[in-house]
Amino acid sequence: MIFPEYRARRLRQNENFRALIRETSIAPAHLVYPLFVMPGKGVREEVSSMPGVFRISVDQLAKEAKECMGLGVNSVILFGLPDKKDSKGSGAHAKDGIIQRAIKELKNTAPALTVCTDVCLCEYTSHGHCGILLDEVVDNDSTLEVLARIALSHAQAGADMVAPSDMMDGRVAEIRGILDENNFHMLPIMSYAVKYASAFYGPFRDAAECAPQHGDRKAYQMDPANVREALREATLDVEEGADILMVKPAMAYLDVISRLRDEFDLPIAAYQVSGEYAMIKAAAANGWIDGEKVMHESLLSIRRAGADIIITYFAKEMARLLAK
Ligand code: PBG
Repeated sequence: MIFPEYRARRLRQNENFRALIRETSIAPAHLVYPLFVMPGKGVREEVSSMPGVFRISVDQLAKEAKECMGLGVNSVILFGLPDKKDSKGSGAHAKDGIIQRAIKELKNTAPALTVCTDVCLCEYTSHGHCGILLDEVVDNDSTLEVLARIALSHAQAGADMVAPSDMMDGRVAEIRGILDENNFHMLPIMSYAVKYASAFYGPFRDAAECAPQHGDRKAYQMDPANVREALREATLDVEEGADILMVKPAMAYLDVISRLRDEFDLPIAAYQVSGEYAMIKAAAANGWIDGEKVMHESLLSIRRAGADIIITYFAKEMARLLAK
């Protein structure tokens, strides 16, 4: 008598067997921790919809960097809240802008940390859109120049990688061009290649104070119903010189991550966004789920779908769990 169904069970009967055949793993080095930087001194302000996530001032960055690196989380991505917003988002490429100051502080105090920057306008524009407005509509081409200036200013301040998140057409080529002209040939671009017009960004828009003042982002971010379009977006970014392709959000788009993994040989990143984090935290706070286990399972699912890199507000917490 043969019991083929026992083949699976035989290797599940203890943790050593399970570990031997485990197909997916997470290491702290795969994770990127987002940091929200704001003006002021000694500021450490919890984001109400994201428990455990803080908006901090530049002088708090060294401590934060040390904590991340102590946990093996060697990469961060920076988001800035500028002193002032205007219609053209000029704070985004100011020489002494909030991100430029933050990069310098991190490079001075934690040179081994990889500092990625989000390249976008929405946190810096008074209207909250990710580009320059012409007659109330985001104008693709005039936005490209500004995005390139932002990326260059981050590079000049010492950033290790730039991540354009605006979804304008042609921005990867424009950014690659200006970086190369200025001798930043070795600076990689992690493109938010596939970014959906998602309701999961809600808590981030509180954290970064960047909800659009009118309208929405559907004219430049993708329709959640589409996956073939994701492949077209990614193909363009590859042709334009992207080094890493990102999918965002993550959990509701695991099929998209998986398709990109199959179709492209570039590294794939996934952004587990603010709403994904907030949902898990809220349910856990109510005692409805085991927050730690759901965190772990959610990150495993993103890795299993094919992501090499995960940007997640859980980075430190997950690293702590792995260290146990
Ligand atoms: C800025 C940007 C957003 C996020 C990352 N970069 C907001 C948006 O597009 O509205 C969202 C991240 C998150 O929700 O955690 N363009």
